[in-house]
Amino acid sequence: MTTPVLITGTSSGIGRATAVRLARRDDFTVYATARRLDTIADLEEAGARLLALDVNDERCMAEAVDTIQSQHGSVGVLVNNAGFGQYGTVEETDLDGVRRQFETNVFGMARLTQLVLPAMRAAGRGRVINVGSMGGRLVFPGGGYYHASKYAVEALSDALRFETAPFGIKVSLIEPGLIRTAFGDTAACTLSDAAHPAGPYDRLNTAVDQQMAASYRSKLLSAPAESVAAAIERAATATRPRTRYVVTPAAKTLVHTRRLLGAKLFDAYLRMQFRAPR
Ligand SMILES: NC(=O)c1ccc[n+]([C@@H]2O[C@H](COP(=O)([O-])OP(=O)(O)OC[C@H]3O[C@@H](n4cnc5c(N)ncnc54)[C@H](OP(=O)(O)O)[C@@H]3O)[C@@H](O)[C@H]2O)c1
Repeated sequence: MTTPVLITGTSSGIGRATAVRLARRDDFTVYATARRLDTIADLEEAGARLLALDVNDERCMAEAVDTIQSQHGSVGVLVNNAGFGQYGTVEETDLDGVRRQFETNVFGMARLTQLVLPAMRAAGRGRVINVGSMGGRLVFPGGGYYHASKYAVEALSDALRFETAPFGIKVSLIEPGLIRTAFGDTAACTLSDAAHPAGPYDRLNTAVDQQMAASYRSKLLSAPAESVAAAIERAATATRPRTRYVVTPAAKTLVHTRRLLGAKLFDAYLRMQFRAPR
């Protein structure tokens, strides 16, 4: 008997690397999912089963969960990975885009979790692994709405862990630092859409854009998606999985730095990295 693993957002980046890694194992049956099946066709050769799943689509989520439950009884491991960054300053960013981001990063994750829990509880076992971010523990300027979504993932994961432990369900949060995937390009696009050229935050937006591009280019500051997939595998297989896995050395340093400095000193540190608005 293998454990069925449902992974969202496997068309690229962390989700794809996780699907490939976990599909190599004999003890898992990996259900790789994506909004468009053509984007993951090759994952079948890697040993995964494919399902269409858009975390903004209730019917699609219910059908994917039903398919797995009809074959295995319950989802063994749910990896809530699908997500993106809606960047831009708090004042300038269009809230429709922010709502779409919350629909994916927070409500999509929450709803899919709700759908798998009854059968997990009945089975008396299961794991939920939420891909949060180091950005759920600290905030960079120009990313307030993205960080807000990842702070929400932190809160929901903590509540869920406590609430479902009596039913044998284990909940872990993965907190990646900068990972070289399509995420950085998507974030840069949303930032340029949100920014008003010659507006009050022009210099800050430019600084955020430059910082992001330079940081993702740096091999010291960023890491490949496979490093996150390895942490997800640990969370999926450890007898006693950790509540949080911070991925990348730079992320560990930043999370500690933020905790040690407190809000005001961290602001001072950020002012050295980003130019303030005029
Ligand atoms: N890369 C980083 O630096 C970093 C750092 C911390 C946390 N993270 C988190 O890691 C997770 C994965 O991101 P990534 O870095 O691998 O970026 P990515 O390469 O852009 O992958 C994002 C994935 O999410 C999928 N997705 C977006 N909206 C979806 C929806 N409504 N339903 C289903 N799938 C959807 C995308 O599918 P489509 O191809 O259909 O758009 C894609 O497969 C995200 O939650 C992100 O916040 C990333």
